[in-house]
Amino acid sequence: MLNKPEDKNIAILTGEYCRLDDVFELKDKIIELDLGCGKGSFATKLARRYPERMIFAADVMIGRLRKLQKRNDREGISNIYPLRVEAKHLFSMIPDKTLTRLHILCPDPWPKGRHRGNRLLCSDFCAQLHRALKSGGSFHFSTDDVPYHDIVRRVISASRLFEEQNALPADLAEIKSDFEIRWNEQGKKVYHILWTAKANIKYTSAH
Ligand SMILES: C[S@@+](CC[C@H](N)C(=O)[O-])C[C@H]1O[C@@H](n2cnc3c(N)ncnc32)[C@H](O)[C@@H]1O
Repeated sequence: MLNKPEDKNIAILTGEYCRLDDVFELKDKIIELDLGCGKGSFATKLARRYPERMIFAADVMIGRLRKLQKRNDREGISNIYPLRVEAKHLFSMIPDKTLTRLHILCPDPWPKGRHRGNRLLCSDFCAQLHRALKSGGSFHFSTDDVPYHDIVRRVISASRLFEEQNALPADLAEIKSDFEIRWNEQGKKVYHILWTAKANIKYTSAH
């Protein structure tokens, strides 16, 4: 992948390990992460609404991040931080209790059995999500795929790290991602779930 001059505002976090707080000043900030942001309309709407917050928008696809960055430049939005990074690599870089809210919206459901390993959400990723969230921080997930919705809900519940909430807060209910807009236009419903990260969890490993 070749970097273009206009990529100067996209952090390319591949290859060697570093911590996110080596790259960005994270102290005392309200930080939200739109993981697998695609073209990133959701992140843009959040950033406009909360100009004092840091909104990270992460995706593996540089082309999508370029579209997001162009929109930021056009609209003069300066509190979105596009990250070109693979999700699991990113989570290995995020210090404990950093994120106030994490959004994983309409991720690819990979319905075929042989592709399931590509899913963003699986049981061994839950502890990483919990560790990166502040206590009481929110994990917001959406999908149009009912079987995937049910599996993610079961996996998160089985982890015992999160508390499921009854409804989305009003600000999130009002903002749709690009894929939610697309699915709605095709007459498909998108289901949202919000969990909060439980406090005082001791991580244990099986022997
Ligand atoms: C179906 S799109 C959804 C985009 C956006 N969240 C929305 O709702 O409009 C899924 C996005 O996740 C990204 N993605 C898939 N696997 C990823 C991974 N392991 N790490 C980072 N991004 C990933 C894809 O490149 C794609 O842009």
